[in-house]
Amino acid sequence: MKQRILKGERNMSHQFEIDFFPQKWDERLERVLKDYRNYSLTNEHQKSYSEFLEAPLREILIIQEDFAIYKYPAVERAIKALLKDWKLLDVRRFNESEKESVPLYLQMEVEKGVHESLLEDGICYYQNLTNRRKLIVRFGVEANFEGVKYFVRVFFVTKKIEETFLRSFIQEIRDWVKDNHYLKGKKVKPGGSLLKIGKKYTFDDIVLSQEIMTEIEENVLDFFQNREAYIRNGLPRKRGLILYGEPGTGKTLLGKVLCSQIDCTFIWVTPSKLSLPVEVSHLFEMARELSPTIIYLEDLDFYASNRSEYGGGNIKLLGEILNQMDGFEENGDIVVIATTNDIESIEPALKERPSRFDRVLELKPPDLWGRKTLLKRLLPLRDGSDEIIENAAQKTDGYNGAQINELAILAKKEALKCRDMDDMGIVQLKMDHFETAFTRMKKKKEFFVGFKHD
Ligand SMILES: Nc1ncnc2c1ncn2[C@@H]1O[C@H](COP(=O)(O)OP(=O)(O)O)[C@@H](O)[C@H]1O
Ligand SMILES: [Mg+2]
Repeated sequence: MKQRILKGERNMSHQFEIDFFPQKWDERLERVLKDYRNYSLTNEHQKSYSEFLEAPLREILIIQEDFAIYKYPAVERAIKALLKDWKLLDVRRFNESEKESVPLYLQMEVEKGVHESLLEDGICYYQNLTNRRKLIVRFGVEANFEGVKYFVRVFFVTKKIEETFLRSFIQEIRDWVKDNHYLKGKKVKPGGSLLKIGKKYTFDDIVLSQEIMTEIEENVLDFFQNREAYIRNGLPRKRGLILYGEPGTGKTLLGKVLCSQIDCTFIWVTPSKLSLPVEVSHLFEMARELSPTIIYLEDLDFYASNRSEYGGGNIKLLGEILNQMDGFEENGDIVVIATTNDIESIEPALKERPSRFDRVLELKPPDLWGRKTLLKRLLPLRDGSDEIIENAAQKTDGYNGAQINELAILAKKEALKCRDMDDMGIVQLKMDHFETAFTRMKKKKEFFVGFKHD
């Protein structure tokens, strides 16, 4: 033990002397901290392992396994399932100051409205009642030193003579997790928590040009419907699409529609959820394990900007995204859809290489037909009010979806103010309401800088 701690210390001094490149420094510091954690078994832990296994420390084997956080419930379930014939004799926890304290549990939503209680920090002491074999499993949900990336760290502790058993047990856990992943087909964030989407969106909620609709049908909808045929005919089974367009043209909304309409795993990624390259590799690993999968990568410019010298972009993340998108075989049945307001800034390496993003599509503000369709959906009108719609559609040339939505809200509010409602309290729009809304909207548009994401 002593020797190992010394080793950690030596590494540490070595670190600080030589390397001042921030990225490398991060990686190394992370490694040092990891080593340090591995070797710094506190006395209480040591004592409890030794007592339970009835063996001195030198005869004890500790294997550490880290799992991506999205596997958290699955890993615990795997251990419970594989040890179902074993008896759980005790659950304990020692806190940072070596004091015995209560094990920590976490409630995690694993199914809409269904929560599972998971051990977040604690040590489980198991015994197999048939062959008397003993095993300790210590769980910890850990954050790395930046506090950004969470992962599950599990220590398996047994006697050294049980090494073969322990190694195959750990392999069984990995296999079990792969075969029984509860997130398959679910709509999730990269960490594995369920997405909260207020309603089920349909294609009726979005107005898209025929051209975009055809692309979406061919590259996304058909792709998921005809997977078998793709496999049988040896067609490429991964797709990459970039959707670009000014803010408010429906990029996020299209994601919500696809999420609601396609029966596959859907991972919604916002920039705040990816900060380290290892998170990108975990994301793709997750997508592969749970495939067929859509990865919806919002605001691609955030990672993949070629203007990183001006502050945007993240070269390390971009590198990992490229890496992952190149892995062809392994990416079977994954569609990556990336959105951006700023296509100009996207690194050419990403958008111009067919094996990465094969389609680059622009979502434009709706044309006359699109504006009419959208206005009809948004505005409750009296019978025979085609004229208002026609008029509104003509006047909103250049408005994007979000602005038309805003206009409809202003018009409804105006009608409400004028108390123009039917018996059910539904506003009845007139040309006047619309005119007022339009004037207000024009004023707003002058100050318009961009619509926020919802
Ligand atoms: N093409 C569209 N069809 C219907 N509604 C739209 C469209 N584009 C935008 N909207 C409306 O504007 C809101 C914001 O759009 P959003 O999808 O967030 O835009 P983006 O992600 O392109 O910035 C949507 O929730 C919707 O109400
Ligand atoms: Mg958006």
